[in-house]
Amino acid sequence: MSVTDFIQTKGSPDESDLQLTADGQIRHLITLRGLSRALITELLDRAETYLSPIGAEAVRNTDLDGRTVANLFFEPSTRTRASFELAAKRLGAVVLNLDVNMSSRKKGESILDTIYTLQAMQVDVFVVRDASAGVPAYIARSVEDHVTVLNAGEGDVSHPTQGLLDLLTIRQYKGSFADLVVTIVGDIGHSRVARSAAEGLSIMGVGELRLVSPPSLAPAPGTMPDAVITTDLEAGLKGADVVMALRIQRERIGGLEGIPGIDEYFAHYGISESRLALAAPDAIVMHPGPMNRGIEIESGLADGPRSVITRQVTNGVAVRMAVLDAAMRAQIRR
Ligand code: CP
Repeated sequence: MSVTDFIQTKGSPDESDLQLTADGQIRHLITLRGLSRALITELLDRAETYLSPIGAEAVRNTDLDGRTVANLFFEPSTRTRASFELAAKRLGAVVLNLDVNMSSRKKGESILDTIYTLQAMQVDVFVVRDASAGVPAYIARSVEDHVTVLNAGEGDVSHPTQGLLDLLTIRQYKGSFADLVVTIVGDIGHSRVARSAAEGLSIMGVGELRLVSPPSLAPAPGTMPDAVITTDLEAGLKGADVVMALRIQRERIGGLEGIPGIDEYFAHYGISESRLALAAPDAIVMHPGPMNRGIEIESGLADGPRSVITRQVTNGVAVRMAVLDAAMRAQIRR
């Protein structure tokens, strides 16, 4: 079956059957959907062990000694790609960053032939980012039993390690999830970050999730059933404990019809210091990056004391170390 057939046939299936081993460990990580609260908590706890104080030496060990991790990014990335590379290297793995633009994909090689070629070179883990929904699952269903696939961002569907690092950051600042109001603002409709955050927060039992966007960037009806969906930013921010701003995903929007211009967007949906006054006094401000300063977030706020954006980045390495380590432990058991 080709990747196009797979995507058309399967859509965005629940991948729980695919991504967990028989004893409930991570075999592949395609989505947060279907993971238990206990498993997510275990991953977050494990991630904490990989953090060291800023300025101190980064935590490293040799748990992935002898393993090979291949980064296959068919879409641009700074944070996810760099953090997967650092995570794998800090665990002692060999890392291959395939330069997709210089690869035989440009000569027409199929994605599976690329995978099979690298698998024959004894790659243990494929870290995959692709603009099309379904690609990480398609690869996961096609690799050999001992190989792991980690989703590093899949169209507008899923970005599970981003979801985990967002959960870790929220937990660090807020302790638990049950009494929290989390507000995500921006291009919800095209955001895999919002989707994975919503899935993760729902599993962790968040008090209330609010999704705020212009009408043209709202989620499709029924896709975020646990969230309060609104176009009213002030109502969305009122009393929020966590405020996350999102980038407008222009690369996923067919035309710009109905999408507000930059000034109009900031005026109506930009997160600024003055707007944050509506949130809880100790509210934190998050952004997955890359940021468009002055469009979705005021520049001073992004760098200010309530911003935890750089902490999110630091946590990204730790979370990816935790996921790689968990998947490799599960591989040993297979
Ligand atoms: N947050 C995130 O996925 O950033 P990158 O696109 O830089 O990886």
